[in-house]
Amino acid sequence: MTDQEAAALGAAALAEVKPGQVVGLGTGQAATAFIHALGKAVQEGLRVAGVPTSEASAALARKLGIPLVNEPVTLDVAVDGADEVDPQLDLVKGFGGALVREKVVAAAAHRFIVLVGEEKLVKTLGARGRLPVEVVPFAAPFCARRLRELGYPPVVREKDGRPFVTDNGNLILDAAVRAVTDPGGLDRTLLAIPGVVGTGLFVGMAHAVLVWQDGRTRTLTRH
Ligand code: A5P
Repeated sequence: MTDQEAAALGAAALAEVKPGQVVGLGTGQAATAFIHALGKAVQEGLRVAGVPTSEASAALARKLGIPLVNEPVTLDVAVDGADEVDPQLDLVKGFGGALVREKVVAAAAHRFIVLVGEEKLVKTLGARGRLPVEVVPFAAPFCARRLRELGYPPVVREKDGRPFVTDNGNLILDAAVRAVTDPGGLDRTLLAIPGVVGTGLFVGMAHAVLVWQDGRTRTLTRH
């Protein structure tokens, strides 16, 4: 998806936001486009508060003048991107590394709206071959061993030749996956490994997905 296409999606998502609401601000290209659209609306007089899912999104929101609340308890709506979307609107997220805060914010929101280009639509989750799993650093070798034993060999995510450290001070194991036919079951299995903080599987969470397809925004809703 080009930045222009993401901007069109971000602007479309603004229709989900009403004055006075508390809004979850996702992380990544699509979420950034939404934050820009929201920032413009705030500059034009819209009163909202944002709950950021990463330090990067917080910095952008501050720059644009969006007031921030840092304790997600109840949100009206959260808007974020995704790395894969299946026909049930279940998701893989976390290629950008903010999966844990993203899932907290999505869970705390009455509505969770996802913005993607059509290249993110998959028949079965796992199509892109990896599933991010955030782990406590102390537990990383053990979690990696368990993932290997379960048949999902991981690599420690790196950035600039060093282990990537999340905003929570943790590491990401990118587990090799194939077709994930039972995302809820896999999520529960992985969360049961001591040291795992969160997975990139977002099951039954998205209320609507706005897809940029054939030059326009198409809305998918969960049945
Ligand atoms: C960040 O951790 C991710 O979950 C992103 O929300 C997701 O990767 C989608 O990002 P893009 O809009 O940049 O593709």
